[in-house]
Amino acid sequence: MEIRFDGKTALVTGTGSGIGEAVALDLAASGAVVVVSDLTEDAAQKTVAKIIAAGGAAVAAYGDVADPAVVEAQIALAEQHGGLHLLVNNAGIGGPSAPTGAYPLDGWDRVIAVNLNAVFYGLRFGLPAMERAGGGAVVNMASILGSQGFAGSAAYVAAKHAVLGLTKTAAMEYGGKGIRVNAVGPAFIDTPLLSGFDKETRDWLISKHPVGRLGRSEEVSSLVLFLLSDRASFVTGSYHLVDGGYCAPKQRGLCPPIPPRPHLWRSRPRGYFRTRKSHDPPGLMIRPCPGPDRRTGWPGPEGMVYRKALALGGAPR
Ligand SMILES: NC(=O)c1ccc[n+]([C@@H]2O[C@H](COP(=O)([O-])OP(=O)(O)OC[C@H]3O[C@@H](n4cnc5c(N)ncnc54)[C@H](O)[C@@H]3O)[C@@H](O)[C@H]2O)c1
Repeated sequence: MEIRFDGKTALVTGTGSGIGEAVALDLAASGAVVVVSDLTEDAAQKTVAKIIAAGGAAVAAYGDVADPAVVEAQIALAEQHGGLHLLVNNAGIGGPSAPTGAYPLDGWDRVIAVNLNAVFYGLRFGLPAMERAGGGAVVNMASILGSQGFAGSAAYVAAKHAVLGLTKTAAMEYGGKGIRVNAVGPAFIDTPLLSGFDKETRDWLISKHPVGRLGRSEEVSSLVLFLLSDRASFVTGSYHLVDGGYCAPKQRGLCPPIPPRPHLWRSRPRGYFRTRKSHDPPGLMIRPCPGPDRRTGWPGPEGMVYRKALALGGAPR
């Protein structure tokens, strides 16, 4: 299944290294003209040179994406090169590590500016440009930390969670206009972003991935290219993990995180609790039945149900 982007123009932010660089190289190798954006001209030009050496087409753009004028100008540049069809809001920083109660205020502002505000600016200026181009696809770079906490990283976690909200909202607004918007959630990928971690932390992080290693930028890029392509024409407003199994232990579907309480299953009085079905996951809490007792027809005040559950060894939640 070869994915091609011939005749399409893409803007990818944060392409000087890591995931953004891999996405830019892959998009160019698949036929797109890529506007390669990074903080400094050197960083952007380095990636442009790699693309051109490989026979692709790219143009450099640089500046701080936390500045809306910079993002607007980069989107205008893409429009000068055939129109904006593909957008990857990828630039991001890790930010300081500190407990929330001691998190540096300037660190908070900077992480929110780069990891969240810049994604909004990309959408704010990119979506109208895509409408002018007749449609397109956006991928916002979130993280596994877009759906779970990570001690010491309040700003990063908050920004990545917010990116998911932005993604869903924009997808709802622009789905009917031929524009798809998705988010990607990588686990820990071996890029310069992780260079601050010592060996002990790195080993601990590796141990969290069932595949037994950190991810590679190209592995994230493969998913991004799929989401940008017409192969994903029915995929929008959603969040796609690329995590080596990192989140698998925590994916419990509809099952709430309440430990099993078998004593409740055995001695449940008919009507007070929904019957446990054989396909129920073991952690599923059997909630008190809000309706009448199915055996006697007696309505039974909620308080009675609650006391009954307490007597059986636990309050309903
Ligand atoms: N590496 C990981 O483990 C990991 C995991 C999940 C999500 N992510 C996300 O993937 C994205 C890319 O991360 P990466 O690991 O490739 O990092 P990286 O540090 O290798 O690359 C980030 C790039 O963004 C650029 N950049 C940073 N701030 C910028 C700004 N204000 N304006 C313009 N460019 C800026 C940097 O110069 C750099 O080239 C980020 O959004 C990050 O949060 C990374």
